Amino acid sequence: MPLPSRREPFCEPSRKVFRHHNILNIFNSAQSESGIIRRVEKPLQLLEDFRARFGTAASVYRAPGRVNLIGEHTDYNDGFVLPAAIEFYCWLAAAPRSDRKLVIHSENFKETVEASLDSLCPDSKNHWANYPLGVAWALERGGKQLRGVSILINGEVPLGAGLSSSAAIEVAVAFALLHQSGNAIDRIELAQFCQSAENEFVGARVGIMDQFVSCHGRASHALLLDCRSLEFKLVKLPSRIQLVVCNTMVKHELGSSEYNTRRAECEEGVRTLCAVLQGIRALRDVTPAQLEKHRRLLDSKVFSRCRHVVTENERVKGAVRALEAGDVRALGPLMRESHRSLRDDYEVSCKELDAMTEIAGAQPGVIGARMTGGGFGGCTINLVESAAVDAFRQNVAVEYLARTGLRPEIYVTPAADGARQVEVGSSKAVTEAE
Ligand code: GLA
Repeated sequence: MPLPSRREPFCEPSRKVFRHHNILNIFNSAQSESGIIRRVEKPLQLLEDFRARFGTAASVYRAPGRVNLIGEHTDYNDGFVLPAAIEFYCWLAAAPRSDRKLVIHSENFKETVEASLDSLCPDSKNHWANYPLGVAWALERGGKQLRGVSILINGEVPLGAGLSSSAAIEVAVAFALLHQSGNAIDRIELAQFCQSAENEFVGARVGIMDQFVSCHGRASHALLLDCRSLEFKLVKLPSRIQLVVCNTMVKHELGSSEYNTRRAECEEGVRTLCAVLQGIRALRDVTPAQLEKHRRLLDSKVFSRCRHVVTENERVKGAVRALEAGDVRALGPLMRESHRSLRDDYEVSCKELDAMTEIAGAQPGVIGARMTGGGFGGCTINLVESAAVDAFRQNVAVEYLARTGLRPEIYVTPAADGARQVEVGSSKAVTEAE
């Protein structure tokens, strides 16, 4: 199918109702504490809404968005990534039906979509429903027997901010469909089905990082993933450091076509290098020294793209070594260099991301700052000492506004657990569906 002109992220957070208490927004008082439904009440609210719409009881599920600490644009090159799931979720309530229909209502888009499991095909370009329908399509194609399900969705992952709102809906829907249909849940397979849905049904050639961490994230941990073998390791984050996500408020609308172009440039690099480096299958197999040695074979732009990927893989390994050695400060230069490489070699940054990173990097208590996600807008990730977080938020917001005229949103979010069924009536997330 033709690629959409941009990746339509899934959901606009309906902040008045489902604003998360852990997400701090310093400039928008409408999003502050009054009227907030706490996490404990969220599944209850969703169930009430479900009953009002579909007339039955339901089960509640959620899957998180993510922030990537380091390892950008390496996943589709079979490389390494170090993301963490975050406490922004796609929530959904689901109940079985007696027919073979999926009836899906989005509270964010205030729209209901109906489709038969026997004739799933993409809606018009960039339609939000392509994500849940694509997941059902991928599961059925993969031999999973699904039953008809009614679904109510409420997403709180910011739209178009590079925090993987689309992976969150894919994973939440896949989890719910499998569980509702009595299938066992294999989280690796789940992530792969979601990636296929996005690649083949939605039409965005994304890697597997976002779906994988939305399935496998763990509270207080980042996740080192080998995107070739899908082996992963949880890496404990130091408790005195907070993950602070700064939203430039520039939506990554250019992202999809440029993303696919970058992928094609990496593939071109591999095709050329194959002639001199026998047996390589992806940039993952190329060292920085080998790339440098064969530089003259490559078009200069392709060389720069490849240099970003091969050096970024090294930075991911360095970051994990540093975290495991308890030397979190060593992440600073690695994150700085990652941003520089994404800006200059991979050319996926933008002036707002550069400004945000520069401002953040100059604040006291900041260990490291860089753009996160696909780029062309969206967010930066900042590792900030806990004691410095309040001043960081104030200063960055003021300086960013002065420099760009845009009011940023700044979120402080712990690393979160991956997709879950949620026990209703408490805030406890349970794994009984596994
Ligand atoms: C997007 C994609 C991921 C990954 C990042 C860049 O988030 O969905 O697969 O490629 O961009 O690291």
